[in-house]
Amino acid sequence: MGRSSRSVWLKAVTDKNSMSRKLLTGQVVEEVSEEWKESVGKDLQQYKQGVVRILPEGWIYPGVSPFFLDKLQQFQFRTEDVVIMGYPKCGSTWVQETVWTMMNNPDLTNPHAEEGIWYRSLEISMDMLMDVVNFDELGMEPMIETLGKMCPGKSKEDGFALQMLEVLPGPRIMKCHYAFELMPPDFLDKNKVIYVLRNPKDTVVSFYHYLRLVRLYDYKGSFEKFVKEFINDQMLFGPYWPHVHQAWTRRSHPNLHIIFYEDLKADFMTQLHLLDKFLGTNLDTQQMQNVQHITAFTSMKSKGAPVNDTACFNQSVSEKEGGFFRKGVAGDWKNTLSPELNQEMDKWIKDNIGDIPIKWGDDEKHQKTHGNTNRK
Ligand code: A3P
Repeated sequence: MGRSSRSVWLKAVTDKNSMSRKLLTGQVVEEVSEEWKESVGKDLQQYKQGVVRILPEGWIYPGVSPFFLDKLQQFQFRTEDVVIMGYPKCGSTWVQETVWTMMNNPDLTNPHAEEGIWYRSLEISMDMLMDVVNFDELGMEPMIETLGKMCPGKSKEDGFALQMLEVLPGPRIMKCHYAFELMPPDFLDKNKVIYVLRNPKDTVVSFYHYLRLVRLYDYKGSFEKFVKEFINDQMLFGPYWPHVHQAWTRRSHPNLHIIFYEDLKADFMTQLHLLDKFLGTNLDTQQMQNVQHITAFTSMKSKGAPVNDTACFNQSVSEKEGGFFRKGVAGDWKNTLSPELNQEMDKWIKDNIGDIPIKWGDDEKHQKTHGNTNRK
């Protein structure tokens, strides 16, 4: 799909007089309401093509997203691909590094290991974020240079991740924050998928920090406002629960492995063994220890942010509250959520958790009501 089809699409989507548009997957794209723009949108970066909702679930994405979502339907996944999915801030970068190291560097001899993880393992959903109005000030030059080297002649307007993935040798390890329903229909039958879940109370704390840290978002609202926007399905990337449930309902699929952040924190080795079985990597004890060492929070933090360009981050937030690798713990919400917000989140969790056998209420710790979630 070339530039011209992109602009035709965008004109149609953003033309106020045009009807709503359909994605190739069948969902309907609509511009966000004026009310959303005045309440939520004013605290976020502005996008050249505005912001849309993808119905019926109401996914809130930059206005350029329909172009990339349709492009994703035509993207050729390969059977050896491994895709890491999850709502933002659930620990996906940790899992990316874990899987990449298991598959590419279990003996710690791979010279590419020093490159930023988001270059070794590209994020599909990142493409739509690059449509911010001040893109040229955001320090994305390394990504643009990488695109130029890997895909000569290709334009950044047509996105980074999907174009680079097309030429990347396998097995490709990629990440995607889109929900399952937006992926190609045969996607899970074809590829191995790892879905990462995290207590939404910790997710919301981490997400608020991230949207203020990263200049691509530059969120200006208060924490309280943010939490309410998150639980009311108004925040970018939302809504949270349909995202999680679309993974959960697929949990018996042999190509899907669900991992909880809290389980990784509590007993990384057990989770590594399960991953090893799922991926068929057959690592020995020494290799397992190598992976554990490389992916420890302190090791990953000491290597620096996944995109090695400080221009991407608000330095004041980074210095005062931590950078990309902020705290890396389970239960940090206890230091951040007020009793009132905590109560609201407890109710929201209770009302929405459905058949996910986890207690994420005000319990002291992560508790599962039965054993490993997708190995029934
Ligand atoms: P915190 O902000 O709570 O510290 P994602 O990669 O999906 O964006 O998730 C980011 C969260 O995972 C951040 O949480 C980050 O610190 C945490 N994280 C990243 N690497 C980690 C690691 N090796 N161990 C534990 N947590 C990690």
